[in-house]
Amino acid sequence: MTPAPGKSPIQRSAPRISGGLRLDPRPAVIGARFSKIKKVIAVTGWKGGIGKSVTASTLALLLAEKGFKTGLLDLDLAGASAHIVLGASGLFPKEEMGLEPPSVAGVKFMSVSFFSSNKAVPLRGAGVSDAIMEMLAITRWGELDYLVIDMPPGINDTALDIIRLLPGTRVLAVTTPSIMAHSVLERSLRLYKSLKVPVLGVIENMTRGAHALSKAAAGRVRYDARLEKALGSPARILKTDFAKDLAKIAGRIVN
Ligand SMILES: Nc1ncnc2c1ncn2[C@@H]1O[C@H](COP(=O)(O)OP(=O)(O)OP(=O)(O)O)[C@@H](O)[C@H]1O
Ligand SMILES: [Mg+2]
Repeated sequence: MTPAPGKSPIQRSAPRISGGLRLDPRPAVIGARFSKIKKVIAVTGWKGGIGKSVTASTLALLLAEKGFKTGLLDLDLAGASAHIVLGASGLFPKEEMGLEPPSVAGVKFMSVSFFSSNKAVPLRGAGVSDAIMEMLAITRWGELDYLVIDMPPGINDTALDIIRLLPGTRVLAVTTPSIMAHSVLERSLRLYKSLKVPVLGVIENMTRGAHALSKAAAGRVRYDARLEKALGSPARILKTDFAKDLAKIAGRIVN
């Protein structure tokens, strides 16, 4: 029988229930895959371009450098960019009972960029949820101490799906030194509280000179002009002041 169009192999292999319908087996598959992952950290921030991707990628590099088994998942379907930070071009996941993520500088890495050939991914609504569920179900992380997730800006389908599919996920929020960013940050923290999502802390990124930090900030990461040139090279990123500032804060709040 030809498979139903638009259904993934995992969905097609599910047994039928009454009326010939198939239950979506992916939430159960995701539960099994994630039972071997000790801690999931979603790096979020409700504004665009504030440094979520460099923070998530560098945090994963720092954790791997410390000897933790670490994964990095780029879930920014429209604006995937962690592969640029890590310099992961030319790599591809290995297909074996799912997809085994390639390793970059000791970090297991998975991103929609592996499948999109650098083209935009025109998904919305149910399409986004479906793609996320598929990526979570298909990726074979194995045992991990930490999985860091690079989230898209805002609270959207991706964020709500992660909260629903991966209970226990903790948030590391990124903001910048701007009263607009602080105001949005405070709104986001209120929402996380109401959804009972634990927040590890807030990083105030791209600070220049002395200024009042957001009340919620756990620490500041300075603007570092050398970061841009280091992108694509994990070894160089780890030597930047950006990584050093992040390591200090992470040492206090990431556990
Ligand atoms: N502390 C910093 N010093 C210098 N440059 C920085 C710093 N933090 C971030 N950048 C730069 O700012 C740009 C945006 O960073 P990044 O892509 O990580 O933001 P983002 O929040 O993930 O954006 P998006 O919302 O589009 O996903 C990048 O070019 C990055 O190198
Ligand atoms: Mg990003």
